[in-house]
Amino acid sequence: MGLPVVLMPGPMHPAVAAGLEGHCELIRLWEETDRDAVLASRRDEIVAVASGGGRIDGPFLDRLPAVRIVAGFGVGYDRIDASAAAERGVVVTNTPGVLDDEVADTALGLLLMTVRELPQAERYLREGKWQDGAYPLTRATMHGRRMGILGLGRIGQAIADRVAPFGISVAYHNRHRKDVDYDYYPSLVEMARDVDILMIVIPGGGSTRHLVDAEVLKALGPEGILINVARGTVVDEQALVDALRTTTILSAGLDVFEHEPKVHPDLVTLPNAVLLPHVGSATIPTRTAMGNLVVDNLRNWLTQGTPLTPVPESEDLVRRA
Ligand code: 8YV
Repeated sequence: MGLPVVLMPGPMHPAVAAGLEGHCELIRLWEETDRDAVLASRRDEIVAVASGGGRIDGPFLDRLPAVRIVAGFGVGYDRIDASAAAERGVVVTNTPGVLDDEVADTALGLLLMTVRELPQAERYLREGKWQDGAYPLTRATMHGRRMGILGLGRIGQAIADRVAPFGISVAYHNRHRKDVDYDYYPSLVEMARDVDILMIVIPGGGSTRHLVDAEVLKALGPEGILINVARGTVVDEQALVDALRTTTILSAGLDVFEHEPKVHPDLVTLPNAVLLPHVGSATIPTRTAMGNLVVDNLRNWLTQGTPLTPVPESEDLVRRA
């Protein structure tokens, strides 16, 4: 018997191909000239997909009836339709855990940059303006503030741990209360009204689309700061632009955007927005660890029939296997 055939629709971190070497035949679809022909001719052989972030939906899986696992790179899997996969008996895995600290570090850095206007202050120096006077004092400080975490999971907890030394108290809004000491708000608007910093760490996808809208931003108020390290789709970006322009909120720090890598052109010109190009987990060690977890999921599944980190939508399938 030949090696199992794994499809890689688009380029991925090199750790994935390196770790699969010798364990499977890897089809690098983006390198093929006639991709449809490859999918059609190998449809009964391809048993697994390694996905770097492209859209994987029901119709795509229907073209590959032998596939039983989609191993995604990243903790967020909003580009993979895990429910459509489960309906077709296909397990989906993601890469939780290995990036929590990295993303939490980025969130803390972005928070500091936004609260203390550090990128703006650095631009001020580079533009030679210091000679004419000191950079204006910032309205906000980190100390003694209140942070509302939208989506208290592992990364949210790692952020909460990091802000404790600043004397920042933490509240959270999730669909359900968790067994933690932080204040729980069943209503996002009410939490936004009571905090100075709204930290978004909730997964993307249809159910969280535009959860942070004009009403939430208004509740956050003129001293409020919005930080998003999750998915751009969680925020109504036009409403955010309007809120920043009219100082309905004080400022925003964003690592993710609704239509990334395209960024709303007004965001780029607004002085009270700090913008990063989705670098939350973007270090060589962490991205390598994420790639290795994709490999471990696939290899475990290929050798033992069990993936390591299935997403919740796939848990029933795994239990039945
Ligand atoms: C990566 C992320 O940017 O894990 C996620 O969900 O958003 C980031 O860590 C992404 O996985 C890159 O494809």
